[in-house]
Amino acid sequence: MKISVIGVGYLGAVHAASMAELGHDVIGLDVDARRIDLLSAGEAPFHEPGFTEILRRGLDAGRLRFTTDYAELADAEVHFLSLGTPQRADGFGADLTALHAAAGSLAEVLPARAGRPTLVVGKSTVPAGTARGLADRLERLEGVRVMWNPEFLREGFAVKDTLDPDRLVYGVRDPDGADTEIAMLDEVYAGILERDVERLVMGFETAELVKVSANAFLATKISFINAIAELCEATGADVTDISRALGMDDRIGSKFLRAGVGFGGGCLPKDIRAFIASAEDLGAGQALGFLREVDAVNQRRRVRVVELAREMLGPVRGRRITVLGAAFKPDSDDVRDSPALEVASRLTSAGAHVTVTDPEALANAARRFEGMTTVADTTEALRGAELVLLLTEWREYRELDPVATAQLVAAPRIVDGRGVLSPRDWREAGWEFRALGRPDAPAADTASAPELALS
Ligand code: UGA
Repeated sequence: MKISVIGVGYLGAVHAASMAELGHDVIGLDVDARRIDLLSAGEAPFHEPGFTEILRRGLDAGRLRFTTDYAELADAEVHFLSLGTPQRADGFGADLTALHAAAGSLAEVLPARAGRPTLVVGKSTVPAGTARGLADRLERLEGVRVMWNPEFLREGFAVKDTLDPDRLVYGVRDPDGADTEIAMLDEVYAGILERDVERLVMGFETAELVKVSANAFLATKISFINAIAELCEATGADVTDISRALGMDDRIGSKFLRAGVGFGGGCLPKDIRAFIASAEDLGAGQALGFLREVDAVNQRRRVRVVELAREMLGPVRGRRITVLGAAFKPDSDDVRDSPALEVASRLTSAGAHVTVTDPEALANAARRFEGMTTVADTTEALRGAELVLLLTEWREYRELDPVATAQLVAAPRIVDGRGVLSPRDWREAGWEFRALGRPDAPAADTASAPELALS
């Protein structure tokens, strides 16, 4: 099929290359000419395992190309809208400017189809009601149908999640009267559906809510365990043991139950805020009030790391601190709303000499925070540190040898902000070891039993 993908950011670029991988004839469009040049040259604008391979395969096979010109999209049968919907500058809501602008530009070229069936499929994460609004606008054009098909891909697993998803969600205006558009999208995803992937058809608003609910649930799960981590800090309990024990209950599950410095990235933080804003606009704000607390717990974890640094060093002004990790999670070079970088920037503002290292994300980190000291080599970054903060759990940091690392630093002090190091191994190697939600010293020494109320 002839397919266009409008907006080739993270989601769109992976989607475009994946659709070419499924055998379609794909054109990706973006207003960012630099990005189009990179993609056209087979260069990935971000770090994503497996992406460069499918990008180059599509380009080499002649099934994939990129443009900045809407006129080149005119003969596509299916158009995917994968524009970013960031947090608005003036509040919590989602900024839909790019999405609406793209729909407007697309509407100008759609008449070239002269009434032949044409499908416009939204993939962006949007507040409920957006799809219906766009459909009302675009379906006035003869032959045009709109669907909403949210994306659930995770950075770091984006190619796998696109080509081998847990489920496909089709949002339509009328689930009982959408055979034509469902058949078209089935044809697009034929290579996926033949592997018995579940395909769920539902109304527009339901599909929109599936996506934001999924992200809100994931964020809630993380903040839940991080709230328990706060309790652990007050009692001397160990959140990693609680997490392990809870996760063994199938009903709870162990995924997204890792306590630490919390969630960041381009999706979870802004999506829960947009969800709160949208619920308030709809007069249902009370239903999602708890998400404010989810957000607040998440922010508090970042502040807690800064407090720990102060507890360990005293005033941080002039002290040398090395932050291990800049990306919002491992195996990504994305630094949007990165907990690690926020901690680094707070400590820098307090006068500390902060050095940030990361295997992939330093260029993006330096762009975001001008003047931040970045050192690519881990050994170099650690040399002379008076405090080390592990804030993104890249494998090479998880596997650091406490004995060898102690030789590099000026003073062996570390905060494990992701709960991935062995407190015993590090303490045995002479480190002052602190972690979020874990006892400051072996539990037997610190656990303070609350007095029993014998009534
Ligand atoms: C998230 C969702 O997981 C995807 O399903 C969704 O499609 C995507 O947003 C999106 O809306 O586009 P992603 O932003 O790639 O994907 O990141 P996650 O893997 O969800 O991680 C988010 C953050 O949570 C990271 O900062 C990670 O370090 C943190 N996290 C994750 C924890 O702190 N604890 C955990 O147990 C798991």
